[in-house]
Amino acid sequence: NKQHIQVAIDGPASAGKSTVAKLVAKKFGYVYCDTGAMYRSVTLKAMHEKIDLTDETKIVAMLKQTKIAFTPGDPVQHVFVDDIEVTDDIRQPEITNSVSTVAKLAGVRHELVNRQREIADVGNIVMDGRDIGTAVLPNAQVKIYLIASVSERAERRYKENISKGINTPLEQLKKEIEIRDQKDSTRKVSPLTKAQDAIEVDTTSMSIDQVVEKITKIINERIKSEF
Ligand code: CDP
Ligand code: CDP
Repeated sequence: NKQHIQVAIDGPASAGKSTVAKLVAKKFGYVYCDTGAMYRSVTLKAMHEKIDLTDETKIVAMLKQTKIAFTPGDPVQHVFVDDIEVTDDIRQPEITNSVSTVAKLAGVRHELVNRQREIADVGNIVMDGRDIGTAVLPNAQVKIYLIASVSERAERRYKENISKGINTPLEQLKKEIEIRDQKDSTRKVSPLTKAQDAIEVDTTSMSIDQVVEKITKIINERIKSEF
C-alpha cells in the first residue's frame, strides 16, 4: 500500500538495529517488526527438533507448520513460537551462532519474507534486519544502514550479555560477530549489503538517544517531502 510509511533498518550484528528500531516505532506509533527474531525462532525450533540445520527441505516443511508471533513489551517485545514464549531462548549463544546457517536457506527466506510483507501490509512499519531495504521492502520511503566498529559492537554485546548473566569473553564475541557478518554478507540469497538508496549512520560513538534522534529527523524530512 503506497499510503503506508515503511522504515527499513539494516546493518551488521549488534549495530543497535532492534533497540533503535523499536524506539523509533514507538515514537511514531508505527508497528515494529524484528525479522532477526523470526530467523532465530526457526533456528530454535529446528534445533529443538534435532533437524540437521543444512536440511532445507525438512526445515522449510517444519517452518510451514510453525506459528511465529510477537506481542509488544518493554524493553523487548515478546516472541512466541507455536504459542510458547521464546523471547529469552532465541537470544542464547547457541542460537546466535547457528542462525546464519539457517538464514542462508532460500526456502526459509522465501517463507519468512512473505510473512514479513504481510505484516507490513497492515500499516506504517519499522522493520529491522539484513535485507529489508534491498529485498523485503524495496520501496520503503526511509532506508537506514546502521553500522559501528566491530570493537564497539562486541562491547555492546558484552554488556548486554553480562546483564543477562552470560559471560562470553570480549575477544570471543568479537570473533563471533565477524564470522556472522562474513556469513551474512557472502550468502547467495539476499546477503547483507547497503541498499543503494540507504542512508548510512555510523553509530560507533553515538548513544541510543542520538541514533533515535538522527533517524527521527530523517523520517520527518521524508514525510515532509513525500506527502
Ligand atoms: O541482533 P543481532 O544482530 O545479533 O541479530 P538478528 O538481527 O537477531 O539476526 C540474527 C541473524 O538472522 C542474522 O545474523 C542473520 O543471519 C539472520 N537475519 C537475516 O538473514 N535476515 C534478516 N532480515 C534478519 C536476520
Ligand atoms: O539489533 P542489533 O543486533 O543490531 O543490536 P541491538 O541488539 O539493538 O543492540 C545491541 C546492544 O547495543 C544493546 O544492548 C543496545 O542497548 C546497545 N546499543 C548501544 O549501546 N548504543 C547504541 N547507539 C545502540 C545500541
